[in-house]
Amino acid sequence: RDSGLISTELLAWYDRHARVLPWRVPAGKGQADPYRVWLSEVMLQQTTVAAVKQYFERFTQLWPTVHDLAAAADDQVMAEWAGLGYYARARNLVACARAVSALGSFPDTREGLRSLPGIGPYTSAAISAIAFDRPETVVDGNVERVVSRLFAIETPLPVSKPEIHDFASALTPLDRPGDYAQAMMDLGATICTPRSPACGICPLSAYCEARSQGIAAQLPRKAAK
Ligand code: ADE
Repeated sequence: RDSGLISTELLAWYDRHARVLPWRVPAGKGQADPYRVWLSEVMLQQTTVAAVKQYFERFTQLWPTVHDLAAAADDQVMAEWAGLGYYARARNLVACARAVSALGSFPDTREGLRSLPGIGPYTSAAISAIAFDRPETVVDGNVERVVSRLFAIETPLPVSKPEIHDFASALTPLDRPGDYAQAMMDLGATICTPRSPACGICPLSAYCEARSQGIAAQLPRKAAK
């Protein structure tokens, strides 16, 4: 499996099939706004894309910039967050907006982002890749599944996490890493799905070890609870 071929195929697929989502900027239409990328990634933690869309539209109408959100009353933000759950996320959201507003703008490195309230390893990598086009390795549940299958990783989760991260890192291209990160998520959400993956229409099927072994639907394995 040549990692250059895999990312090239995946990006070509993404150019044709990327989901249209309110925080995305179509290819060639300029760079994503770090504020919108951050807001979407925080909302998407433990909440589905379908549910997040309307909250995202509402928040960005009320508070178009991080400075607007930083100046908002806590109570109003909490009220608008109602329904998304995990209220610690909303508290961190306001704290983070205020920290960024005080800095003047979002830090543009993974380490700088990581120092902000509510931004952990996943979110810092995602913002760094998607908003600043840095070749960070972005691994969420979708990406874990795609990578486990591409390389037929039999080790169960969560023990396999470091191994998955190493494979994912080797696949990440220097060209268009932000689009690549989102392409992996879209592939996992729409084709390389948990129960019955649509291998017949997958752009990576020729490179997929699990598919060639006929075990795609069984991966990733999970440790017994
Ligand atoms: N899930 C988390 N972040 C996402 C993104 N940027 N696009 C699609 N699904 C996601």
